[in-house]
Amino acid sequence: MAKTKHALSPKFSLILLNLFIVAATAAAITTANTNGFDSPSFKISRPWPFKKLNKPVVLMISCDGFRFGYQFKTDTPNIDLLISRGTEAKHGLISVFPTMTFPNHYSIATGLYPAYHGIIMNKFTDPVSGEVFNKGLQPKWWLGEPLWVTAVNQGLKAVTYFWPGSEVPKGSWTCPEGYCPHFNLSIPLEERVDSVLSHFDRPEDEIPDLLMLYFDEPDQSGHNYGPDDPRVTIAVSRVDKMIGRVIKGLKKREIFDEVHVIVLGDHGMVTNCECDEKAIYIDDLADWIKIPSAWIKSYSPVLAISPQWDKDVENQGEKNAEVVAKMNEALSSGKVKNGEFLKVYLKEKLPERLHYSESYRIPPIIGMVGEGLIVRKNRTNAQVCYGDHGYDNQLFSMRTIFVGHGSRFSRGKKVPSFENVQIYNVVAEILGLRPAPNNGSSLFPRSILLPFGATRDLT
Ligand SMILES: *[C@@H]1O[C@H](CO)[C@@H](O)[C@H](O)[C@H]1NC(C)=O
Ligand SMILES: *[C@@H]1O[C@H](CO)[C@@H](O)[C@H](O)[C@H]1NC(C)=O
Ligand SMILES: *[C@@H]1O[C@H](CO)[C@@H](O)[C@H](O)[C@H]1NC(C)=O
Ligand SMILES: [Zn+2]
Repeated sequence: MAKTKHALSPKFSLILLNLFIVAATAAAITTANTNGFDSPSFKISRPWPFKKLNKPVVLMISCDGFRFGYQFKTDTPNIDLLISRGTEAKHGLISVFPTMTFPNHYSIATGLYPAYHGIIMNKFTDPVSGEVFNKGLQPKWWLGEPLWVTAVNQGLKAVTYFWPGSEVPKGSWTCPEGYCPHFNLSIPLEERVDSVLSHFDRPEDEIPDLLMLYFDEPDQSGHNYGPDDPRVTIAVSRVDKMIGRVIKGLKKREIFDEVHVIVLGDHGMVTNCECDEKAIYIDDLADWIKIPSAWIKSYSPVLAISPQWDKDVENQGEKNAEVVAKMNEALSSGKVKNGEFLKVYLKEKLPERLHYSESYRIPPIIGMVGEGLIVRKNRTNAQVCYGDHGYDNQLFSMRTIFVGHGSRFSRGKKVPSFENVQIYNVVAEILGLRPAPNNGSSLFPRSILLPFGATRDLT
């Protein structure tokens, strides 16, 4: 029974899951007078190898700015363990555009591209109300249905620990005390890990089904020093130690093989330099077009321009198109320093693969900035290098890691790179949740997960 393979639709496997639970519970009750779940007869008849936990559990850990390849910088024995015993995106996880922290964490949580979940950048202005979003928690900004809401709406228990957006009340989710600590970077990573693990010491019926934990490293070090700095290597090592702390804590509780641990990041990191060699200056376009500073909502890594025409200007769309044409003419003239590394679009004309047009919040003109380049108004004489992200999600440097470990993930499996909007459906499938509408494929979970009931051997 335990090895029976079947390839049914997720809905059917959900129904089967419930049938199995009912049947297994009944078997446990009739064959053992104890709590049943540890009795040998239950172990033989149950369709999945849960020893301690009586349900599927997902613990997702985000390591902010963990560029794909960082795992080769130094010894990362704990990430390596998850990779060798789990399933890995062989060439990394693809972020969504723009490859920034808030848009990506919320795409992982909702399965939606930023245009549909509303967090189109870390900071932006609502063009209708004029209000500024700057990582705030007012519910009106946060569209879509994140995993913790899906879980709680359907009767499961969720814990979040600093995941961007998780403190926003939504549906049945109130960010309950003790299950949703308030963002505070002073809390050491160790404390975050131990706090999340402590939920597994609760009475059985209070153990959460979904736990989402956030580490702000190695992003901080990557920004401050650039991705190739030895201090980033140290940060990677430190993050690996925290993953080790998670593994150790789960092993101590004898649930390491049962909990589905997913380790991932939100985006990569690339070296940036505030110097003429790596910069494009808007004022250099002045012979073709003068762009008022007030129109520029963001310079780089994403150039975002919102022209403010007088009310009586007709055909504002055409005027915007003229701005785009003049800018591109300048940039391709050969007379603008680094002009070839910036291409400007009406948002509707951006490559479709970016899915970055269908929101009124996205400014009408978007410039795609070349890898590691910066855009500024004019020369500043600064000479400083650091790291940044936000660039085209097609760039390898913007990729991050994905590793899944636990009974639904094959041992040692490599899967091709995929976009992080697929993850929502994967977690929903593991937890037996009905997914909200999203931009992931409903077939994707089958390509990365073992079918329910065909769970692998555990040692
Ligand atoms: C953040 O955590 C630190 C360390 O525990 C604490 O001293 C500080 O009061 C906290 N800040 C807020 C705003 O809660
Ligand atoms: C650069 O722009 C700022 C802000 O508009 C202005 O104050 C400064 O004079 C400019 N610098 C140069 C070198 O043009
Ligand atoms: C993304 O999902 C939303 C919600 O289902 C839908 O409205 C939108 O059309 C989808 N977009 C793409 C590009 O699939
Ligand atoms: Zn980030």
